[in-house]
Amino acid sequence: MKLCVALDLASYDECIKLINELKGLDVWLKVGLRSYLRDGAKFIEDIKKTGDFKIFLDLKIYDIPNTMADACEVISKIGVDMINLHASAGKIAMDTVMDRLAKLEHRPIVLAVSALTSFDEAVFKQIYSANIKDSVVNFSKIAYKCGLDGMVCSVYESLLIKDATSREFLTLTPGIRPFGEAINDQKRVANLDMAKESLSDFIVVGRPIYEANNPREITQKILTKISDINLL
Ligand code: C5P
Repeated sequence: MKLCVALDLASYDECIKLINELKGLDVWLKVGLRSYLRDGAKFIEDIKKTGDFKIFLDLKIYDIPNTMADACEVISKIGVDMINLHASAGKIAMDTVMDRLAKLEHRPIVLAVSALTSFDEAVFKQIYSANIKDSVVNFSKIAYKCGLDGMVCSVYESLLIKDATSREFLTLTPGIRPFGEAINDQKRVANLDMAKESLSDFIVVGRPIYEANNPREITQKILTKISDINLL
């Protein structure tokens, strides 16, 4: 299980300060919409100059198939290690993206977003007229067939997804509150033990790290706990 730290801070300087504090730790960094829209590809280059981090560019691409493929091709060429798109864009969109990326010499890991972890059952039903579990399994089977590498989901769907596809099909789970911290706007949250039990491959942690008094210390504590449970 790998730790992915969400760089959701308000300014470029604050993000760079956090990255410097995390130097040398075995973490992935997640660049979100705000940072990317504001600081662009230069931010990705600056992260690479700062340290040896793997980068997940979390733009949750969603549009018509050709536009999604254009966007995914461009962000893949920036040289990030993982990107994502919305599974609800559908099979044709995911096929089109994967066909396009197959032409590149090297493509990043591609994940599909199933249901945002900020959705509870009622809100999800209002939008999709379906329940979360059935929809996530359905999205995952389609994404798996299209050749994507895994899903973004909550810890509560990770095992279901693996059972419906393959154990090797990756799950990346946001909404992690490592030691039971405040849930904020998240609804389907879980701690590290639950993430491990659900076979999550990547956990995403944002506010519990960057809002902590000592982000490096809490990150180290999370990494220690992960390596302890990895040994179980
Ligand atoms: O601060 P917190 O740990 O809640 O941050 C979670 C991060 O994961 C945010 O950057 C959010 O955009 C992202 N995310 C999520 N739920 C998803 C997909 C991504 O919370 N389904």
